[in-house]
Amino acid sequence: MAILSVKNIQKQFGALFALDDVSVDFHEGEVVALLGDNGAGKSTLIKVISGTYVPDGGEIVLGGQSVKFDNPRAALDAGIQTVFQDLALCDNLDVVDNLYLGRELRRSLVPGISFFDRRLMRENTGRLLKELAVDLPSVDAKVKDLSGGQRQSVAIAKAVNSKCQVIIMDEPTAALGVAQTRKVLALVKELKARGMCVIYITHNMHDVMEVCDRCVVMKNGRKVGEVATNSISKEALANVIITGDMDRYRQAPTAVQ
Ligand SMILES: Nc1ncnc2c1ncn2[C@@H]1O[C@H](COP(=O)(O)OP(=O)(O)OP(=O)(O)O)[C@@H](O)[C@H]1O
Ligand SMILES: [Mg+2]
Repeated sequence: MAILSVKNIQKQFGALFALDDVSVDFHEGEVVALLGDNGAGKSTLIKVISGTYVPDGGEIVLGGQSVKFDNPRAALDAGIQTVFQDLALCDNLDVVDNLYLGRELRRSLVPGISFFDRRLMRENTGRLLKELAVDLPSVDAKVKDLSGGQRQSVAIAKAVNSKCQVIIMDEPTAALGVAQTRKVLALVKELKARGMCVIYITHNMHDVMEVCDRCVVMKNGRKVGEVATNSISKEALANVIITGDMDRYRQAPTAVQ
């Protein structure tokens, strides 16, 4: 059974159909690439899934239940996390505070009075980062002093720490160098191994081939089609994205290569 399904989703901005009858299923332990040229509707679709936009039509089904998200908090509470490049973190806070922001662990010495349990949060943060093989100078480092790749890793660790079922990543490696990209991709594989579903938006075909199980291609607000990553070449996939013609590829896989 799909962990998350979007069914016949519609989203209009004035006369423009940003999403037109889009349906996709997402499963546990699966990394799904959401692909398409600029303006295809990828970000709009994840904004619908993450509660930023309310769709004009269609349905979202999470764990077998029909759900409606009026705001991002509602999607978050239901277990859907979105990792944007930089936005999710507070620069002036350290790594521990970022990981627990709004969900701090508390300790009570006297009934009715509780304190943040900094020591426990710090220990847990260190353990989680170790488990995820994320290398940072210190958990006490301010996020503004970290590199782009380290910040991205902290944002992903924060999502993991919130025990979400679905993680959406919008171009997580777009601003990263080769070594940092490799680390983020390793992290994505770790999330998959933990049974999470990762929705991965990217324009980078190398990332797709490396970590994604399935590719959903969109164009002009419509879903063009889906294909298992191991059954298509990088070149053919790039061609489907540009032409929006998955059928032609299916009929003659070599024709569009
Ligand atoms: N808030 C908005 N108001 C009006 N039009 C919008 C809005 N958001 C997106 N659009 C339009 O909807 C269409 C889909 O945009 P979207 O941002 O979802 O594309 P995308 O696939 O994420 O593209 P990119 O790869 O460039 O990020 C585009 O034509 C865009 O101009
Ligand atoms: Mg976008």
